Amino acid sequence: MKILYLNGPNLNLLGQREPKVYGRATLGDIETKVRERAAVIGIEIEFRQTNLEGELVSWIQQARGVFEVIVLNAAAYTHTSVALRDAISAVAIPTIEIHLSNVHAREEFRHKSLIAPVCCGQIAGFGPNSYILALEAAVNINATSQSPQ
Ligand code: DQA
Repeated sequence: MKILYLNGPNLNLLGQREPKVYGRATLGDIETKVRERAAVIGIEIEFRQTNLEGELVSWIQQARGVFEVIVLNAAAYTHTSVALRDAISAVAIPTIEIHLSNVHAREEFRHKSLIAPVCCGQIAGFGPNSYILALEAAVNINATSQSPQ
């Protein structure tokens, strides 16, 4: 099984960026933790970050036939991007939305996710552990997922 982890804008600054909200772990630290856990359960992962919306769209499109599940922290694009939503919908690869912070306990504009209706589910508020929880969810996706829409 192959899982594609995609990270959106400003997540390259984790570790320095608003540590009270996002903690001290860097994206590299998080990737290491995910890789360690994936190795234990025998899952292959790919881990990418970009600040560009179109690049996320292209990566989602290119995942067809290569990855079984996408784990997506779309960061700010979660709340704004019709293009990402349409890409997820178009490829029909089970996608898990994740966030480090509990977006529902923050500013109102973060309560709305444009991608949530086309994702299998959302994991938010567990810091770097959101990424590990998504791995566990991805492994069981066939058993537990409800088809979006
Ligand atoms: C985030 C939450 C988003 O609202 C925010 O724009 C981010 C990070 C998170 O992981 O908590 O950049 O996706």
